[in-house]
Amino acid sequence: MKDWNLRYAANMRHYEGYSIGKLLGLINDPEIISLAGGLPSPDMFLRAEFQMATRQRLERDIDRIMQYSNIRGEAELIEAVIAFLKNDGIRVTPDNMMITTSAQQGLDLVGRLFLNPGDAVVIERPTFAGALAAFEMQGPIYLGVDLESDGIDVGRLQDVLSDCRTAGRLPKFIYVVPDFQNPSGVSTSLAKREILLDLGDRYGIPIIEDSPYRKLRYQGAMLPSLYSLDQKRGGGRVIGIYTFSKQFCPGMRVGFNIGPPEVIEKMTNIKEGSTLCTPKYNQDMCAAFLTEVDLDAYFERCCVYYGDKLEIFLKAMADCFPPERGVTWTQPEGGMFLWVSMPPQVDTRQLFHSALKFKVAFVPGEACYGERTERHHMRVNFSYPSRAQLRDAVKRLSDCLEQLGI
Ligand SMILES: Cc1ncc(COP(=O)(O)O)c(C=O)c1O
Repeated sequence: MKDWNLRYAANMRHYEGYSIGKLLGLINDPEIISLAGGLPSPDMFLRAEFQMATRQRLERDIDRIMQYSNIRGEAELIEAVIAFLKNDGIRVTPDNMMITTSAQQGLDLVGRLFLNPGDAVVIERPTFAGALAAFEMQGPIYLGVDLESDGIDVGRLQDVLSDCRTAGRLPKFIYVVPDFQNPSGVSTSLAKREILLDLGDRYGIPIIEDSPYRKLRYQGAMLPSLYSLDQKRGGGRVIGIYTFSKQFCPGMRVGFNIGPPEVIEKMTNIKEGSTLCTPKYNQDMCAAFLTEVDLDAYFERCCVYYGDKLEIFLKAMADCFPPERGVTWTQPEGGMFLWVSMPPQVDTRQLFHSALKFKVAFVPGEACYGERTERHHMRVNFSYPSRAQLRDAVKRLSDCLEQLGI
């Protein structure tokens, strides 16, 4: 067959997937310290619990594990998630919820359900590159609104929405990551969460709340989720996208979407046509974590462990980059990432290749823009490398920049 490209669907011809994935492929030298991934540390993996649950479930339930599972999700896991959410101030019933094969599928379902080519979507600037990869398949137009140190610029958002209304084309949804955002680590303040809901309400636009890092808070007080705040107002405006990848382990590929029953029903229909069901074994492992582990103690351990790494990383940055070097970075209170801004003349895509020579890697920030790309930022991850590697990585980055005169 010649020229496959002509046979591809129009929206797939130029589709290149997740740009960060390709970059990670370039990091194949084991001496490179990678700040590029978004991996939880295996130090926090619940290995013994996983092995024990596997043994028990295989003995008890092997025929069902080897069978197809419910599209919507296994009843045991759904019940466990409902209890998990109740602890976080969210009340849902099985009608409001579906299990997904992790949040990336949750986002894909959002894109497929809501977007026609050319539809507008409001995103934070910068935003999660994987969400762009998911939505991109439908060919939307991105309306980026700058992220400030306390969340999206709500004044600008109001202007954007008002312009859209004047033009007669409102965005299909507003996509935000309010807790320790990927890539910036920024959290949306309570005041801005309320304003976001006000704006969603005023303009009749649903809000997609993507929340993988919520439990990973190392400092400061927990803020209510947009979903729970919306429930206090009567509910129905927010769709929640969750994953257990960062809290338990990404290999499990289990997450869930919550929202109005009719939306969840439609998403379940789409899941039926794509992956059909999330493997029962994976759902069982997740249910075992949720019901058989002392979650308060476990999350507390995670927060101490990652909080320590964050502190080490921030200290190393402050030691290596005094203000006169013109490098700035965010001050997250949780999550796994920091957003580092270089002087404007630095193109972090080029810097990426120079940094590989210094055996350190990061994600060039350009991957995190839907439009009006900025090139002098980078995303760095502090959850995966060891403490010593974090210090070394910052030193290597500093040496690399010094060689470039920064
Ligand atoms: C904001 C955000 N949403 C969704 C995902 C995807 O999660 P998962 O790997 O569980 O599909 C990630 C993963 O990094 C993320 O940071």
